Amino acid sequence: MSQIRSVIQGTGSYLPEKILTNADLEKMVDTSDEWIVQRSGIRSRHIAAEDETTADLAIHAARKALEASGFAAERIDGVIVATTTPDQTFPAVAVKVQAALGIPPGLAFDVQAVCTGFVYALTVADNFIKTGGAKRILVIGAEKMSSIVNWEDRTTCVLFADGAGAVVLEAQETDGQGILSTHLYADGTLRDFLYTDGGPSSTGAAGHIIMQGREVFKYAVNHMADIVGEVLEHNDVSAETLDWLVPHQANLRIIESTAKKLDLSMGKVVVTLDHHGNTSAASIPLALDEAVRDGRIKRGNLLLFEALGGGLTWGAALARY
Ligand code: UT7
Repeated sequence: MSQIRSVIQGTGSYLPEKILTNADLEKMVDTSDEWIVQRSGIRSRHIAAEDETTADLAIHAARKALEASGFAAERIDGVIVATTTPDQTFPAVAVKVQAALGIPPGLAFDVQAVCTGFVYALTVADNFIKTGGAKRILVIGAEKMSSIVNWEDRTTCVLFADGAGAVVLEAQETDGQGILSTHLYADGTLRDFLYTDGGPSSTGAAGHIIMQGREVFKYAVNHMADIVGEVLEHNDVSAETLDWLVPHQANLRIIESTAKKLDLSMGKVVVTLDHHGNTSAASIPLALDEAVRDGRIKRGNLLLFEALGGGLTWGAALARY
C-alpha cells in the first residue's frame, strides 16, 4: 500500500585529514597493533585538527549529502544533528549547519544518544516526515570524539575517532521505498558502563570517556541479536532478503556476531571500522556513504542499520534505499 515515507535522497560524509595509526598509538600508550586489531578490528582512524570542530565536520558532510540529493538549500526544512561532542553547550550544532549551508528557518536541533545517536535522529526525522511536520530533513551524525578521549587511557583512546556522515530524507508517497521501521531503546540503569566524568551541570567541563568495555561488549552482542530479530519480525521479512547490514562500527567481533545471528555473510556487511575507528553517532552514516559512493549499495537495496552506545541506548532501522 502506498504511503508517505522518508526516502534517502542523498548521502555525504567527511573525515578529517589527519590519520592516526595503531603504530602511532604504540608510541603514545602501552598498546600494540596486534592487541587493537585482534580485540577491535581497528587499524587506523581520522582525528580532527585542534581548531576543527564537530560543526565543521558536520557542515562538510551535509554539503556533500545536499549535493548528492540534488536539492538546493532553500528546499530543506529541517536539520537534525546526532552528536555527543557539540562545539558548545549551546547553540546546537544543527543551527550552525543550517546557517552555513543557507538553509532557511525551520526546525534545527541536536539529538544526544551517543553511539545510537544517528538511529535516534533518523527516527525523529522520520516521524516529522510521516506526520507532515517537514518535507526534507538533513540528518547528520557528527563527532569529535578525540575531544573527550583521555589520551592516557589505553582502554579507550585506541577506539574512538572523528568524522561526520549525513543523509537527506524526503517525504514521498511510495510503495516500499524509504524508512520502513525504526526501533529505539534505552536502559538508564546501565549508564555507568559508559559515560564521561564531566558535564556542564556537574563539573563545568565536558569530561572524558570512561568505559567498562567487557560489560558494554556483552550487552552489545545480546541487544543487537535481539533487535535485528525484532526488526525482521516487525516487517515480516527474512534475513535473506537483506542486501546490506550497515552497523555501528565499534568492534568487529560485535558486528560478526550480529551477522552470524542473521546468517548473513560478511560480504553483505559494510565494515569501515578498520580505517574509521569508532566515530560514535557518525559511524553509520559514514559507512552508508562510503558504500553508496563505491557502488556497493544500490537503489532498491534493503538496508538494516543497528547501534548500541552509552546510556545504554540501542536501536535499529530498516530502510529500502
Ligand atoms: O560504541 C559504543 C559502544 N562500545 C562498544 O561497543 C565497545 C564494546 N567493547 C569492546 O569493544 C571491547 O570490550 C574492547 C575492545 C573495548 C576491549 O576488548 P576486550 O576483549 O573486552 O578486552 P578487555 O577489556 O577484557 O581487556 C583485556 C586485557 C586487559 O588486561 P588483563 O586485565 O587481562 O590483564 C586490559 O588491561 O587487555 C588489556 N588492555 C589492553 N592491552 C593492550 C586494555 N586495553 C588495551 C590496549 N592495549 N589498548
